[in-house]
Amino acid sequence: MDDVCLVTGGAGFIGCAVSGALADAFGSVVALDNLHPQVHASGERPTALDPRVELVVGDVTHEQVWDDLLAGRRPRVVLHLAAETGTAQSLTESTRHATTNVVGTTRMLDALARHDVRPARIVLASSRAVYGEGAWQGADGVVHQPGQRSHAMLAASHWDFPGLTPLPAGDPRMAPAPTSVYGATKLAQEHVLRAWALAVGVKPSVLRLQNVYGPGQSLTNPYTGIVPLFARLARAGEPIPVFEDGAILRDFVHVDDVARALVLAVTGDAVPSGAVDIGSGEATSVLELARRVAAVYDAPPPRVTGAFRDGDVRACWADPSPAAHELGWSPTVMLAQGLPQLCAWIDAQDPAAPQP
Ligand SMILES: NC(=O)c1ccc[n+]([C@@H]2O[C@H](COP(=O)([O-])OP(=O)(O)OC[C@H]3O[C@@H](n4cnc5c(N)ncnc54)[C@H](O)[C@@H]3O)[C@@H](O)[C@H]2O)c1
Repeated sequence: MDDVCLVTGGAGFIGCAVSGALADAFGSVVALDNLHPQVHASGERPTALDPRVELVVGDVTHEQVWDDLLAGRRPRVVLHLAAETGTAQSLTESTRHATTNVVGTTRMLDALARHDVRPARIVLASSRAVYGEGAWQGADGVVHQPGQRSHAMLAASHWDFPGLTPLPAGDPRMAPAPTSVYGATKLAQEHVLRAWALAVGVKPSVLRLQNVYGPGQSLTNPYTGIVPLFARLARAGEPIPVFEDGAILRDFVHVDDVARALVLAVTGDAVPSGAVDIGSGEATSVLELARRVAAVYDAPPPRVTGAFRDGDVRACWADPSPAAHELGWSPTVMLAQGLPQLCAWIDAQDPAAPQP
């Protein structure tokens, strides 16, 4: 087996963030990426992609792309990042999400089998979205999986599950139950990868990432990235509109921490047997995030609108302690440090220029 690390979706936000460390660790790193126009407005190779990485422009759902790629390369490790990532968009473009995320994964596995390539491990970047509303606990200590918030419930401004408080991802009582098509496709990726890999003697590794933010994230993709969206409004001196009652909880995990976790999963000695949650451990309300962004730009206070999006999850954050145990990873950059850093990076970009 050659000393090759293959990174699908390797020209994206997270792919660029891992590219330097992987180029240090492997004889060669190949990024397979179709430079999706929703993510790469310029259609050019991103400058943040380490120059040592070979970029193969191609679609993971195309059989011929895989045959060409594997004809000359036998990856020792695969990091599977390629995905359609628009959670809200996935409700109206479910076939597009399923095709890239699910069929893209099966195409990759079929191609590895066809070319008789058995990587030592395949690492998948999965998502917090697999949990949906997750698990909530009553005052009596009983844990419930409350399921999806219905349209009728949201339309009546019933945001929470009465009498229950949410538990963090990483709690062993929490089972995946996606409430978005995106989340369902990420869970399908996990199942497909695990079933295939265990059958053929490849070690699968699944990291479920919380909301990743930081320098390098797309400023032009309207379907992802709440911090750039808020920053754009605050920079224009507009009040940031905040959905529901402002109390939606999210875990903002810095891209440098995520990159370190993925590189550990790719190169480290430990290959966790189950899915590992990667988050900062801080549950931040979206209103609090909006207030902090507004403060950076001296913008008017955020405006809580009561609007909502079907399929949005009320509360999601991760307990990072299982990742410390399983992977030897802990978060280091908290939002108080990472948010001003991201805003400074956004300010340094030319807003008129297309972002890579
Ligand atoms: N960023 C987050 O907050 C977050 C959170 C949880 C999970 N994830 C997962 O991490 C992975 C990487 O996410 P990201 O934030 O870097 O997203 P991104 O959109 O920046 O990167 C994804 C890359 O995949 C490429 N791509 C899309 N469709 C493709 C196709 N059909 N063939 C080949 N390449 C294709 C895109 O061009 C892009 O470069 C994804 O699997 C995503 O589901 C991200």
